[in-house]
Amino acid sequence: MSSPYPAIALPRLIAHRGLSARAPENTLAAVRAAHEAGCQWVELDVQLLGDGTPVIWHDATLSRCSDGKGRLATLDLAAARRLDVGGWFGDAFRGERMATLNDMLELLDRLDMGVNMELKVERNRSGTELAEVVVPRLLEALPPERMVVSSFDPLALRQARAIADASLLPIGLLAESVPQKWQHPCEALEAFSIHTDWTRLTARRAGEIKAAGYRLLCYTPNDPAAFATRWAWGVDSAISDDPTLFAAIAPPPTVD
Ligand code: G3P
Ligand code: MG
Repeated sequence: MSSPYPAIALPRLIAHRGLSARAPENTLAAVRAAHEAGCQWVELDVQLLGDGTPVIWHDATLSRCSDGKGRLATLDLAAARRLDVGGWFGDAFRGERMATLNDMLELLDRLDMGVNMELKVERNRSGTELAEVVVPRLLEALPPERMVVSSFDPLALRQARAIADASLLPIGLLAESVPQKWQHPCEALEAFSIHTDWTRLTARRAGEIKAAGYRLLCYTPNDPAAFATRWAWGVDSAISDDPTLFAAIAPPPTVD
């Protein structure tokens, strides 16, 4: 299959939610930590606040990763900025503020990093609206060689593809386990990649995906020895909470 995509030097290891083993997930601090640890790419989650501001955040709620309570969808930007989103992880991160998408894109650009931006669509929220807000900002901020937009949400991905074609926007299809009929959505979206739970991937499915010319990414391995067979199956990249653990074991970078 000839690729419609620009040459993307996808690294073997991508820091999940930033370097989330060492810094509070999905924060500017976690991305700086990833950069300092030598990671070239990060995976991040993006959602909309109640006032429509896109922010880097994983959960529907606030309690796990901040000193607030309630739902992200009820906040406006001023309220979101008042939260401490670092203290839960450790005193060294106390005072960290929720990153807007714009804050994060500025940092990624400054650090010359790539991003796998996951459009995180929580229950009762619109994937279409999220893609409409996020994708144009990504396209403005970063070159196509340094981004992949991924989602579990078919409507978010469909809208992303409606905004930009494959030469401008690499799309990654997220699936907890890859279904038997995985080809159809990939073809419909002109997908760049499939991202799946590494514990649920089979050698057979990995072989089919690679034979069809798609990139294959796995989340969220943190045990390099246990993951070793997956490299042998053709997995291109691992999205890990701590890529530094893989330093001695990961195969050399792919030549794209
Ligand atoms: O993008 C891979 C992975 O982040 C998907 O799951 O829940 O960690 O966002 P989650
Ligand atoms: Mg994610």
